[in-house]
Amino acid sequence: MSKKWSTLAIALGALAMSSATFAAPSPEMLANACAGCHGTNGGSAGDTMPSLAAQSEAAFVDAMMKFKSGERSSTIMGRLAKGYSDADIKAMAGFFGKQKLHIANQMVDKKKVALGAKLQEKNCSRCHLEEGKEGKDDTPVMAAQWLPYMQIQMELYASGARKMPDKMAEKVKALSKDELDALNHFYAAKK
Ligand code: HEC
Ligand code: HEC
Repeated sequence: MSKKWSTLAIALGALAMSSATFAAPSPEMLANACAGCHGTNGGSAGDTMPSLAAQSEAAFVDAMMKFKSGERSSTIMGRLAKGYSDADIKAMAGFFGKQKLHIANQMVDKKKVALGAKLQEKNCSRCHLEEGKEGKDDTPVMAAQWLPYMQIQMELYASGARKMPDKMAEKVKALSKDELDALNHFYAAKK
């Protein structure tokens, strides 16, 4: 069994156990089932797994609902999200939203960060507020997020596999691959 799948098996085992053992699990108990991939309290240790700590509650709920309905493409989350009620999802959003931002320990390219800073101001700052540190409504917090995770998501957007909000798509489509990568580096470098 690959590492990824054994992690999933453990995570699913934890899910099954938590629902069998507790009638009404606390938000923290619910969130513990996510730790195998998203880290303790949502601070991810794996660079393709997004941190959930300090995520905007609205963006978290929006992401989970889109995974549940299949609107957002996923490797794993579509299947997982279906196991949770809307109330569970809200409770977990509250739990993760209260955690301290997790600063991913990663290398970024300084030149790309500098280019990204200019590009984000012009193209992305209207929605991704405070240089990605603040999530407004369903716009996610991206500051300090893992670079490989954001690169994967940007590729999914570019290929059309993950749908962008129309106004974001207008901006993203006008940028080159290198410019989009500079933006990923910019957000990854924010603390
Ligand atoms: C087996 C690993 C695994 C487990 C367990 C897991 N996740 Fe995920 N999660 C992922 C991956 C991988 C992604 C990226 C989307 C995808 O490919 O499925 C993701 C993405 C997300 C996102 C989107 C983040 C963003 O910035 O848009 C949210 C929200 C999320 N997961 C919540 C949860 C919650 C809540 C749990 C626990 C109930 C959980 N995940 C358990 C692997 C996992
Ligand atoms: C009109 C508002 C808007 C603009 C402009 C915008 N975004 Fe977004 N962005 C969003 C929203 C809303 C989401 C959540 C998307 C979803 O899954 O529905 C998002 C999600 C993302 C994500 C995925 C984050 C994650 O955790 O999975 C990335 C990466 C991103 N945006 C990058 C950018 C970049 C780079 C720009 C500028 C070129 C930009 N966005 C401009 C609103 C916007």
